[in-house]
Amino acid sequence: MKPLSDSAIRTFRKKIYDYYRTEGRDLPWRKTKDPYRILVSEVMLQQTQVERVLGKYGEFLAAFPDFQSLAEAPLPRLLRLWQGMGYNRRALMLRLLAQKIVGEHRGRLPSDPEILIGLPGIGPYTRGAVMAFAFNQPVVFLDTNIRRVYIDAFFPAREKIRDGEILPLVLQTLDVRNPRKWYNALMDYGAMLKQRRGNPNKRSAHYSRQSPFENSDRQVRGRILKVLIGGSPLSAARIAEETGMDPVRVEKSLVALEKEAFIARRGRRYLIRA
Ligand code: ADE
Repeated sequence: MKPLSDSAIRTFRKKIYDYYRTEGRDLPWRKTKDPYRILVSEVMLQQTQVERVLGKYGEFLAAFPDFQSLAEAPLPRLLRLWQGMGYNRRALMLRLLAQKIVGEHRGRLPSDPEILIGLPGIGPYTRGAVMAFAFNQPVVFLDTNIRRVYIDAFFPAREKIRDGEILPLVLQTLDVRNPRKWYNALMDYGAMLKQRRGNPNKRSAHYSRQSPFENSDRQVRGRILKVLIGGSPLSAARIAEETGMDPVRVEKSLVALEKEAFIARRGRRYLIRA
């Protein structure tokens, strides 16, 4: 694709900012510049919808207001606060990250992208989001909302659009003076497109639907953690009974959860790790 003309860039930016001015969302993580609070929001938002995160974010921050308190979080409490968002591994990664920040970075999140990318659970997306939203730096990154905006605006008749084709456009159109505001505006515009235009991301080469939660291994694992968080160590048979789930699937998920260090085994019984 040829470089965009100045007027094409101006028109595009105006469309995004016009929408943001009147329809932009007032989200709690936009009211802070605290890198910790922004990081927590971004990790939650990686795989969980905004509405669901809104119900959890405040409570989580009240319990763990900074890296120090999160680094010391007992696992049962951490998982209880994470419940309802799914993908519990993220909570463990977040705690591991907090421990590293406390142990190796004097409790402050580094603002150097090279250092950020080496930290537990921080990939290109989370690094970009933190650089833009916490440090207001003009970085280039994509998430599902941003991808949707560019596909809709610049690839109206194409299929299998690769991120490698989109990123140069993100770079060219970036509002380098207001990265924080610009990316917030892009995300809101992208969220709107999903509702009003079907989902332009179906035309992305990287598109994959999140598999339905109902009856998934994620659901089995979530229920297991829920009964174990509630109390004493339980055998696999007892867990299957209490959750009402297929014992074979329960057994399989228990093995996985133990491997990932969520739970430990004492004889025949399982419990949440400390
Ligand atoms: N999805 C991921 N990050 C987001 C953010 N900061 N605001 C709204 N939606 C998001």
